[in-house]
Amino acid sequence: MIQTDRMKTIIDCVPKSHTVADIGADHGYVSASLIEKGIAKYVIASDISPNSLKKTQGLIRQRGLEDYIATRMGYGLSVLAEHEADTAIIAGLGGVLISEILDRDIHIAKTIDTFILQPMQWVRPLREYLFNNGYKIDDERLVYEGEDKYYVIMKVTHGYVEISDDMYYYLGEKLIKNRCNLLLGYILHKIKLREHVLKGLAKSKDKKEIKLKKTRLEGEVIRLKEVFDEVSKD
Ligand SMILES: C[S@@+](CC[C@H](N)C(=O)[O-])C[C@H]1O[C@@H](n2cnc3c(N)ncnc32)[C@H](O)[C@@H]1O
Repeated sequence: MIQTDRMKTIIDCVPKSHTVADIGADHGYVSASLIEKGIAKYVIASDISPNSLKKTQGLIRQRGLEDYIATRMGYGLSVLAEHEADTAIIAGLGGVLISEILDRDIHIAKTIDTFILQPMQWVRPLREYLFNNGYKIDDERLVYEGEDKYYVIMKVTHGYVEISDDMYYYLGEKLIKNRCNLLLGYILHKIKLREHVLKGLAKSKDKKEIKLKKTRLEGEVIRLKEVFDEVSKD
């Protein structure tokens, strides 16, 4: 079975569970591994796309996992009943879409203990959604798969946290506190992205919203450089 470092880390973050919902299962590798590794007793693998779900079903047949993995087609958490899953994985989708999925079926989300979330982009809006809607990030990991491809994987539970530094919206607090070994490269990557955007904005007319964006990005670059210096000293 194909398993990238990103998928391996997602699997590694899943707590021992009775039922895991793998939302947007697609190839189904994560669902199958959870059963084969004994991390979950049962998996509900769902997808909005019939073609993606066919891939999952093919893998289930190939690995003889029909008794352990159910497949369902539909949008996000709507395929689940309340209290049906103790853990849900939503991986490989944009951060805004992940927050929309959580928000659309709040009554189901409230009955799931742990979420493993891996946004492909728009990480900041996802963190904002989580912090403003009664979620906390218990753990965060980074995966690097070459060519500037960094993935953030979050273990999320219910609860409120005080956000003491605005930076924690765009650079995970746990990544800094855990001194993740990819952190320095990730910070440099984030600085590079912001400097690139700022270069583009330098050419645009100084409308109010452009000025605000510039100010925000410049502030983030300064803060990222400070954290880079702090972490490099350790
Ligand atoms: C890039 S794949 C990610 C597959 C797997 N989760 C992973 O991380 O490797 C994204 C999958 O999510 C599905 N998807 C997109 N939006 C969805 C939604 N709102 N509800 C359920 N599945 C969705 C897509 O059809 C696709 O199969």
